[in-house]
Amino acid sequence: MAGTRRPLIAANWKMNGLRGDSLARVAAVIDRARASTAPLRADVVICPPATLLWALRDALQGSDIALGAQDCHAKPSGAHTGDIAAPMLVEAGCRYVIVGHSERRAGHGESDAAVRAKAEAAHAAGLTAIICVGESEEERKAGRAVEIVTRQTVESLPDGATPANTVVAYEPIWAIGSGQTPTTVEIAEAHAAIRRALGAERKDGDGIRILYGGSVKAANAKPILALPLVEGALVGGASLDAREFWAIVESCP
Ligand code: PGA
Repeated sequence: MAGTRRPLIAANWKMNGLRGDSLARVAAVIDRARASTAPLRADVVICPPATLLWALRDALQGSDIALGAQDCHAKPSGAHTGDIAAPMLVEAGCRYVIVGHSERRAGHGESDAAVRAKAEAAHAAGLTAIICVGESEEERKAGRAVEIVTRQTVESLPDGATPANTVVAYEPIWAIGSGQTPTTVEIAEAHAAIRRALGAERKDGDGIRILYGGSVKAANAKPILALPLVEGALVGGASLDAREFWAIVESCP
């Protein structure tokens, strides 16, 4: 683990979960956290669908696990049917919000500029933005992975990004939900590029945490989290199983 950056393990439940099964899953995660005898070596956040935020806020109270959302709008209020503003997420108990996930960049046409505006809105509301970057399979095959993540890092982070309000998640698109993961060498190379871009762009950029995401599970978490430039993980599918998710949290060095 590089420097003094404490790892962050973030669960991205995506569009999964009704109230009953979600509360049972959260209770199982809390049970595991309470059963650990060693102090937690990571910050942990769960990002459920927006309909479950209030229920999870209550369920997580008194635990060390934070609540996060999966997206926010760039404006604090207004005529934006179906969208959710960052201050609403704060009221619902969130401390984090994911922005620029590739499923939103691809499925909702979000550009780097749009992601940046959302991150700015998150910061203005007092949220920590987890800003996702990552290349497609085609881009990796063309040898452009470093170029793409560098551009996305430079263009998607607002000027006001600091280690306290921003986390970057490197998520190669082809690794998400596919069971495929990059080699540790490929992860290290992308993280080094993001770290360079952060350092070059801002004076305290070096303190911003960089997570890896894409088919992380209990079985592969240890070597990934042991990489010097990896400061946590953004976990999708495996976060829907409390035991699997907690094993990832406990894989932090
Ligand atoms: P996955 O998703 O762990 O299911 O690959 C990660 C993500 O998209 O955040």
